[in-house]
This record gives sequence, structure tokens and C-alpha cells, in this order.
Amino acid sequence: MSTIPLRNGGPKARIAVIPGDGIGKEVTPEGVKVIRAATAKRNRPLEFVDFDWGADKFLRENVSLPDGALEMLRDEFDAILFGALGDPRVPSNQHAADILLGLRFKLDLYVNARPTELLHERFTPLRDRGGDDIHLMVFRENTEGIYVGVGGFFKKGTADEIAVQEDVNSRKGVERIIRHAFAYARAHSRVTSDGSAGSQPGNSASRQPLRVCMSDKSNAMTFAGDLWQRVFKSIRAEYPEVDSRHLFIDTLAMELVRDPRQFDVIVTNNLFGDIISDLAAQLAGGLGLAPSGNIHPGKTSLFEPVHGSAPNIAGKGIANPFGSVLTSGLLLEFLGWQEEADLLKASAKVALRENITTSDLGGTKKTHEVGDWLANYATKHA
Ligand code: NAI
Ligand code: MG
Repeated sequence: MSTIPLRNGGPKARIAVIPGDGIGKEVTPEGVKVIRAATAKRNRPLEFVDFDWGADKFLRENVSLPDGALEMLRDEFDAILFGALGDPRVPSNQHAADILLGLRFKLDLYVNARPTELLHERFTPLRDRGGDDIHLMVFRENTEGIYVGVGGFFKKGTADEIAVQEDVNSRKGVERIIRHAFAYARAHSRVTSDGSAGSQPGNSASRQPLRVCMSDKSNAMTFAGDLWQRVFKSIRAEYPEVDSRHLFIDTLAMELVRDPRQFDVIVTNNLFGDIISDLAAQLAGGLGLAPSGNIHPGKTSLFEPVHGSAPNIAGKGIANPFGSVLTSGLLLEFLGWQEEADLLKASAKVALRENITTSDLGGTKKTHEVGDWLANYATKHA
């Protein structure tokens, strides 16, 4: 597949590694290991720099995101490979909010990319569904909507109290996420039924771009919905070759479960995207296999597995590294290094087929054994 590169597919990249807390510290090194293996033979100079931001540092030094960190990441790095944050010793989760939300908002990472691909049939809860049936990308608006904290209380604590939570939608914000979805659809091709990928942009007259589904609740949330509808109509007119449609979010939830083959690219707001991307992820195996990107095209972006720090299994060496490994593939894809990203995904596919997995996926391997196996496979097939 082609990409919308972060850094124009340049030959060299600097990656900041923030493992964070709990199993973040166990799975992230496996992601790095596999990236190294997939890129080693291909003359892709990569530099990884580790940062120890997380609960330990917060408890020791009372520092979450150090001064100047944002500027440094923005100016000196292409991408961030992130693990997870969250530690029972910090019940407020203050450090996690400072670091993760700080980076998302201040680096203006407006695209939350949540790809879902069924890598082996046994991971879907749906009956009679195979690989090609579940293969889609959810783009969730990541910087505004109902999550921005605009609102307040009236008569708080009384019997008459009222809580207001505002849904904030800027034209700029709606436009850039919808445009990203169409640009992505244009740059990628559907896998045709004869199995040929036809994935190079512009290489054949018959290639079909991905289909876009914009989803909102414009029948009930009429102001925000009206804006989303108008922006959708004006942008789709710029992409006449892209097949696009609209579904209300409740209908989308039903249709995703009924027939996921209908969808290639879904674009929606922050709240709906949060929910629908989790639904989609579960169709392909859930938490343990779900990658994500927090992206500002052309700028430093952050990639993280969907799962958290899993304190209940941390330190045992049994955390499943596939989320981090597939996240690493997404990172490579958005750097414009598609072949390496494909190799990494192919390695994961074979490992899952052969059950080279941790116990949560039914295997018997330790975290680092899975990583070693994947790195080995990638090295051999590079
Ligand atoms: P979680 O994702 O950490 O764990 C949920 C369940 O799934 C647990 O039983 C865990 O053992 C299992 N699990 C998750 N990832 C796994 C993996 N890679 N391999 C094997 N099993 C895995 O979510 P939970 O328990 O709600 O949160 C734990 C901490 O993580 C909290 O502090 C939470 O705030 C934080 N968190 C952080 C996120 C982030 O950094 N983006 C996202 C979600 C939660
Ligand atoms: Mg969620």
C-alpha cells in the first residue's frame, strides 16, 4: 500500500521511544526490536532515543512531561513509539494525563488512526468471517468534540443540579479530519476479489480507491451535524473517484457487525470514533492486537498500542507484544516505509497462524520470545 508519509518517505528517521509504565516497558522494546529487524537490510538509518517518562520518574522527581520536551519532540523527531501509562501508585493518573494528553493536544495530533485487520480467522467473534472481510481504517477526530472539557455545573451538589458538556466542532477541525480520510482513500487501493492488491497509486486504470463512510448523528445533534454534513459534501466533491456515503453512528454500529466488508475508511468525531474504533478492533481480536496512531500529517506523530499498562500482569514477562509490534508497523507506514511495514505485518500474520503467541492469545511464549521470533522472521524475509 502507499501512504500519506509523515516525512515524505525520507531515508532517515529519528524515533523517540516512551515505554511508560507497566507492560508498556515490556512490549515497547519488542516493537523496537522488530522495527530494527525489518529495516536492517534496507539501508534505512533509524535512530531510537529512549525517554523514561512515566510513574517512576513522576514519583521520584515529581516530573511528568519535562520542560522543553514538546519542542524537542516536535523539532528533533519524526515519530514517537509509545507504550502505555498508568500505575496504581498514582491513583490520580496525573502523569498520564500530562504526558499523553499533553502530547496529543500540544502536538496537535488531530488524526486518531485505528486500523482493524483480521490477521487470523480465530480472532473474530463473528461467524464465518475471514481475512478479507475485516480490513478497515477508522479515523477519529482527536483534538475537539465533546472531550475538550468545555462546560460546567449549575447548582452543583443540590437536588436541582445541572451538568453541561459541550460538543465543540470547528470548521477547520471537521474539514481536516474529513479531508484526511479522503486523501487516504485516494492514496490506497482496495484489494480486489481476485486477490491482487493493485496497491500502487495511479498504476492502473482499473484500480479502485478505498470507500469512505462519514458517520455522525446529524438527525439529533443538529448543529454539529449540520457542519459535518456541509463539510462532507464539499470535500467529497473534490474526490469524485472515491466512493463515499454517510451513515448515522447507530446504524454504523449495526452494519459493522452485520457486514464489515462494506467498510474501508470510516471518519467520525472524537466521541463516536472512540466507541466505534473499539467495536471495530474487537471484530479482529480486540485489545491484544489493536494498534493506533495519533497523527498530524507532516509533523511528529505518536504511535501506541490500544491497550493500557495492565498492572495485573506487569513484570511477569507474559504481556502480548502484538499490539506494540503492529503499532510499529503503522509507524513505519506513516514514515512512508511501506515495504518494511508490510514485512512486519506479514511476520505477525505467520506468527499468529503458527500460534507463536502469549497465553492471552492461546500460546505458550513469553513476551520476548514472541519478539525474537518476529525479528528472526523479518530478518530472514527482508
Ligand atoms: P488494560 O488495557 O491495561 O488492561 C485490560 C485487561 O487486558 C487486563 O486484564 C490486562 O491484563 C489485559 N491486557 C491488556 N493488554 C494486554 C497485553 N498486551 N497482553 C496481555 N494482556 C493484556 O486496561 P485497564 O486495566 O483498564 O487499565 C490499566 C491501566 O492502564 C490504567 O492505569 C489505565 O488508566 C491505563 N491505560 C492507559 C492507556 C494508555 O496509555 N493509552 C490506555 C488504556 C488504559
Ligand atoms: Mg477507547
